[in-house]
Amino acid sequence: MRPETTIQNDDAHVMINPKRFSIRDSMRYMFQEQRLLFLLVGIAIAALVSNVVVVFPSRSPPLQYSEPITGGGSFHVAELTSVPRRIAYELHSGHVNTGVRIPLGLKPKSLRVLVTGGSGFVGSHLVDRLMARGDSVIVVDNFFTGRKENILHHLRNPRFELIRHDVVEPLLLEVDQIYHLACPASPVHYKYNPVKTIISFKAFFFTDHKTNVVGTLNMLGLAKRINARFLLTSTSEVYGDPLEHPQVETYWGNVNPIGVRSCYDEGKRVAETLTMDYHRGLNIEVRIARIFNTYGPRMCLDDGRVVSNFVAQALRKEPMTVYGDGKQTRSFQYVSDLVEGLMRLMEGEHVGPFNLGNPGEFTMLELAKVVQDTIDPNAKIEFRPNTEDDPHKRKPDITRAKELLGWQPMVPLHEGLPMMVSDFRQRIFSHHREGGNTISSV
Ligand SMILES: NC(=O)c1ccc[n+]([C@@H]2O[C@H](COP(=O)([O-])OP(=O)(O)OC[C@H]3O[C@@H](n4cnc5c(N)ncnc54)[C@H](O)[C@@H]3O)[C@@H](O)[C@H]2O)c1
Repeated sequence: MRPETTIQNDDAHVMINPKRFSIRDSMRYMFQEQRLLFLLVGIAIAALVSNVVVVFPSRSPPLQYSEPITGGGSFHVAELTSVPRRIAYELHSGHVNTGVRIPLGLKPKSLRVLVTGGSGFVGSHLVDRLMARGDSVIVVDNFFTGRKENILHHLRNPRFELIRHDVVEPLLLEVDQIYHLACPASPVHYKYNPVKTIISFKAFFFTDHKTNVVGTLNMLGLAKRINARFLLTSTSEVYGDPLEHPQVETYWGNVNPIGVRSCYDEGKRVAETLTMDYHRGLNIEVRIARIFNTYGPRMCLDDGRVVSNFVAQALRKEPMTVYGDGKQTRSFQYVSDLVEGLMRLMEGEHVGPFNLGNPGEFTMLELAKVVQDTIDPNAKIEFRPNTEDDPHKRKPDITRAKELLGWQPMVPLHEGLPMMVSDFRQRIFSHHREGGNTISSV
């Protein structure tokens, strides 16, 4: 009698030599009735189905961003219905950061997003939107112009992290996307330490270039190392005092390279160059936004930007300061429109640069009139000599953003301004004094 048969029928024998029985018996069982063949076919079918799910991710419905922004008054709520599904962008474009495939029936994982400058004006509103759509957000900020109050409402959320860090110093984090906003954006702040502005904020005597060059370099290096998508917030200042009007993205600008504003203007131009070089040379996924004047709740109170200046002055019953004859023009975009544009740009397929601004054009005197209408019809205007290299005209051509991102501003000035005014009123007249933002306007 063969041992196997004996074993099958004799429990005592099984106890004596179980290992020999187990392997032989399993092998025999496997090769009987073509079971091995069926097993291999099953594995092949499972692999095929898993691949089909990955190749056709667009069957899933598009993402809807409809949650309201919290804090800072009532906001315009927009929907990103045409934004490609994030998982589709990650898998389709080969931009898979985690290496993990999403099995059939499971929800796509939330993204890990780094926002440098996330406690500042624009950054904090962007963080609100990212948190509302379920992402995990890391804010890196050195609080030069940012305020903890802007992000206080997220501090207890386990999906939120705050790191006090200067982007001039390298940093290693694991994220899927990097929104690089860290940079002093108002003339008062970027002129405070111009070399740091171009490089970033390290040496205290010189300021603004450093943030733009070394800070951007560090964040691009991080994006390369972890294969993250990188978005640069550039500025309409790259057009300088433009000789073309309105400004299209193909216009190369008219910038004074040695003027007092050039730490910011040229710093951002170099940042754009670095971003494109990393894209072309190292195949990093990048996006470039050229932001035009933006206003809204949480702006610094006294930072020399015209909307915040006028609003704060009118609320304090001080005369509104108009530089020059007041006939120079600007366009003013409400912050929720900008955040919408930035997110569409990040999720979309186009590198840019894209102008993100409101094409509605106002002279400084017209803006002062809107502020009078909103706050105080008796508010006075005081004329002062114009500042150096102040552009005469500024108005974005947003055709490209309309066509390729499906984006355009939704909030007109007369709707956006009251939301900013109520935030400013509360901050100016509350007993709490804002730290670090007391530099007087120019
Ligand atoms: N608001 C606008 O109208 C406008 C227009 C054009 C471009 N932008 C760009 O958008 C971005 C955000 O602007 P904002 O208006 O929110 O300005 P903001 O000053 O309110 O925010 C900038 C943030 O970056 C932080 N920061 C500055 N230097 C840093 C450094 N070296 N390391 C770490 N953090 C640093 C500041 O503390 C602040 O929180 C900037 O890059 C700016 O150039 C803004």
